[in-house]
Amino acid sequence: MNRRLPVKKIIAVLLFALLTLGLAARTLVKSELEDNGFKRVEQDGFIFRWRIVDDKIEINIQAPTQGWVGIGFNPDSKMEDADYIIGYVKNGEVTLSDDYGATSISHRRDDRGGGENNLTLIAGSEVNGSTSLTVRKPLDSGDNRDQPMSAGEIVDVLFAWGGDRADNLRSIHAKRGSFRVKL
Ligand code: HEM
Repeated sequence: MNRRLPVKKIIAVLLFALLTLGLAARTLVKSELEDNGFKRVEQDGFIFRWRIVDDKIEINIQAPTQGWVGIGFNPDSKMEDADYIIGYVKNGEVTLSDDYGATSISHRRDDRGGGENNLTLIAGSEVNGSTSLTVRKPLDSGDNRDQPMSAGEIVDVLFAWGGDRADNLRSIHAKRGSFRVKL
């Protein structure tokens, strides 16, 4: 009798289960189409809206904070290598940063890591304890610190926001989470 076969089979099944569980870790959320052409998802109070216009994507993010709010696309591991948009509104003035995941627990400006800023600010506000940022970015900037995106693609999304007093880009999140969505 061949005793090795069952062991190999068990290992294969375990590996498959691990892989499947790992891939299924982020839930694919369904977006709603708004009248103005934006698609919208909401998770734990974080709102992500987007609209693809020609070769650019317009993104609106909102969170219940007076501090920073951020979104990151397609990380490799935890925060690492994700393509971030982070900003805050202070005294009516918007600070916006085009960042990348420098390590699994940190982000850094693209232009400090050999890339460049590819974000255009459209609007920013802080109303009733909620911060909203609207930006435009190329779907494929060619920047090695950005992640190319395309309509209909499934992307992993990280979201987070800082505490009410965190009008800066360094404070750790008060709340964070992630999901998966079809652009
Ligand atoms: C300076 C600001 C930030 C600091 C110091 C920071 C730090 C950290 C640390 C230490 C962890 C690991 C926590 C753990 O494993 O339990 C983490 C995880 C995480 N961070 Fe950040 N972070 C920052 C900004 C951001 C931003 C802007 C986002 C999203 C837009 C974000 C999203 C996440 C998410 C989703 C995780 C969990 C990742 C996972 O476990 O798969 N973070 N961060």
